[in-house]
This record gives sequence, C-alpha cells and structure tokens, in this order.
Amino acid sequence: MARLSMKQVSKSFGTAHAVRDFSLEVEDGELVCLLGPSGSGKSTLLRMIGGFEQPTGGAVEIDGENVTRLPPERRPTGMVFQSHALWSHMNVFSNIAFGLKLKGMPKADIRNRVEEALTLVGLSGYGKRMTWQLSGGQQQRVALARSLVLEPKILLLDEPFASLDQHLRERLREEVRDIQQRLGITTLFVTHGQDEALALADRIVVMRDGVSEQAAAPDAIYRRPETEFVAGFIGSMNFVKGQVRSGYFDHPLFPVAVHAPDGPATLAVRPEAIRVDPARNGTAASIHRATDFGTHLIVDVDLTDGTRLKAMTSPGRQMTQGMFVTPTISAYSLFRDNRIIFRSDIPAETQAPEFLAHA
Ligand SMILES: Nc1ncnc2c1ncn2[C@@H]1O[C@H](COP(=O)(O)OP(=O)(O)OP(=O)(O)O)[C@@H](O)[C@H]1O
Ligand SMILES: [Mg+2]
Repeated sequence: MARLSMKQVSKSFGTAHAVRDFSLEVEDGELVCLLGPSGSGKSTLLRMIGGFEQPTGGAVEIDGENVTRLPPERRPTGMVFQSHALWSHMNVFSNIAFGLKLKGMPKADIRNRVEEALTLVGLSGYGKRMTWQLSGGQQQRVALARSLVLEPKILLLDEPFASLDQHLRERLREEVRDIQQRLGITTLFVTHGQDEALALADRIVVMRDGVSEQAAAPDAIYRRPETEFVAGFIGSMNFVKGQVRSGYFDHPLFPVAVHAPDGPATLAVRPEAIRVDPARNGTAASIHRATDFGTHLIVDVDLTDGTRLKAMTSPGRQMTQGMFVTPTISAYSLFRDNRIIFRSDIPAETQAPEFLAHA
C-alpha cells in the first residue's frame, strides 16, 4: 500500500507538450483509471510514475518520498505494458522469476513466490510452458504475475487487455479488481474503454491534450461532468446549441430555466433524461427510429431544425417511425467555452445504477 502524489508534473518532447502541469493525489489502495483520447498523455504519465520517462517539470512522490529522479528498479512500482513483452526464449516460470533472481533471492523462496503468483492469476501448474504455448489472455496474466511477484506498492497498468476480445477483457478486469482489492495495491489503470473505467475505478481521471479535465468518482463523472468534453466523452449525451436570454435557454422545444448570464451556450442532456410522449401532427419533433435493446428502448427523435436527439425509454412502448412526439427534459447541464455554467437537479429515477451499465 502506498500513497502517490503528482505535483504539477509536465513532460515535453521538443515543442510537443505530452503532459502539462498535472497534479493528482492517489490514496492507499485506491484504483484510478486514466481515460482519454489517443495522444492525451496517459502512457507518458504512467511511464513517469514508473520511472521510464523523466518529467521536464514537477515532482512525483511516493509515501512522501520524492522519486522523480529514481530509476524504475529503485521505485516500489510495477508496470504492465500494453505490449506485454514476455521473453519468448524462457518458460513461464523463468519469466516470472526473473526479477526475483536479479534481487538475489534464494531459489526455494523464488519457487514459492512464483507458484503463489501463478495461483493468484489462475495459472497454477503453467510454469513449465513456453510463453508461445499460451493464449493471448494467458500471456497477459503472466505479464501481470511478473509484476505482482515483486510485490509492488503501486501497480501501473497500461491498457493491459486492449488486444483481447470483449468477453476475456471483462473477466480479466474483474480478476484484476479482485487481486488489487485483496492485496490493497494502489493502482493506476490506463484504458480506452469507458465501460472498463466505470466498472473498475474508485476514481476516473479524464485526460485531454496532456491536461486533466476532471478527476472524480465514476458516478460524478457520469452525472456531474465539469466540462463539455467530459460530458461528451463518457456515455451517450445529447448536445443542443442555443442562447441564454434573461434566465432561459432560448430553444423552441427546450425553453428551460437556467441561472446563467446571457450568451451562447450548449445544453447537454442524457438520453435517460429525455421523455417522449405522443403528440398531435405538426409538432416540431418526430421519431426517426426506435431500437429495442430488450432492457430499454432507444428512440432517435428529429427536430425540425435538423437536431437529432437520442432518448431512452422503457421497452414495450409504442414508438414507430414518423410518429409525432413531444420531448421533455428533466435533468440537464449547460456549458459555455467547455466549462459548466449551470446544472439542474437530477431526478431520483435517473440515478439507478443500471444506467451506468447501459451507458
Ligand atoms: N518519445 C516520444 N517522443 C516524442 N513524442 C512523444 C513521445 N512519446 C509520446 N509522445 C507524444 O506525446 C503525446 C502523448 O502520448 P501518449 O503516448 O502519452 O498518449 P496516450 O494518451 O497514451 O495515447 P494512446 O491512447 O494512443 O496510447 C502524443 O502526442 C505523442 O505523440
Ligand atoms: Mg498510450
């Protein structure tokens, strides 16, 4: 267990700023997911924590000790890279034992530790196999065991399951969560998958252009995004551009009250916060398509101004193409220049955890 503290960490490659002024405190045993588009600086950040990259500014501290200039082998960190890079000329046992041998641990102890690590990742008895005799998922687990056997205080995982199919990825991430919680290892996990982040994380950090847009618990990231970017990045979101005039968002269908200064703004509404009711002919909205997902219905609604909205309703409702409807919204956020300027109350019925799963 360890606390990690990043203080205004920056990294430039020439004129390119991969990470800018990044600060984050990670608690003992916490699992933080780094989420963000390609090139937003996630790997660079992880590599700086592991010691594989030197920051151009700021400091990395582990349990209060400044480790910014320490090489990887002198840090209490273990890293699993996206390309897992097992040694193909060694069997599974030797791959996992390698780091312990370097430390000069007695042979009998090494054998016990490696066997424990293999059991931990569900591969007990696989020690004698060559790595090319393993499936992709088994190789990923060997890579994980190789890190875990060194008993790192901080585990750094850079998209460890990206190359695996959905089913295996879900199983392995649950295994990682179990192991991480059992051992209480402070963990940073880079992922492209928002569902992965929502399922795994104690906290999510959303990155863009080397900067943290928001760091918060998954439900806060989903329900209380601080920026328009975060609002659009996690889950499905409708955006409607318009103007604020005298305390109202001035839109023919959504003249909602907002406490914000006059000027252009973007209204953001989740599909589950839009209600659609049948209306008489000639209203400003009609159904483009309704898709039945079994647990819920996704209804695409066209407004006459060309805007298309996604609404989520309960299954079994009669929603057919071309039908005229009146959409009403219950919870919404308002953004200007990427920043939140107003948020309405979120009604209780949209707070069911199922909505995270369907996001
Ligand atoms: N060694 C390097 N030399 C020059 N530029 C680099 C180097 N490593 C990373 N970069 C640049 O820094 C930025 C951040 O890269 P990084 O690998 O951290 O992104 P990422 O968020 O991990 O992306 P991805 O999701 O694609 O893995 C990118 O613009 C990248 O081109
Ligand atoms: Mg990366």
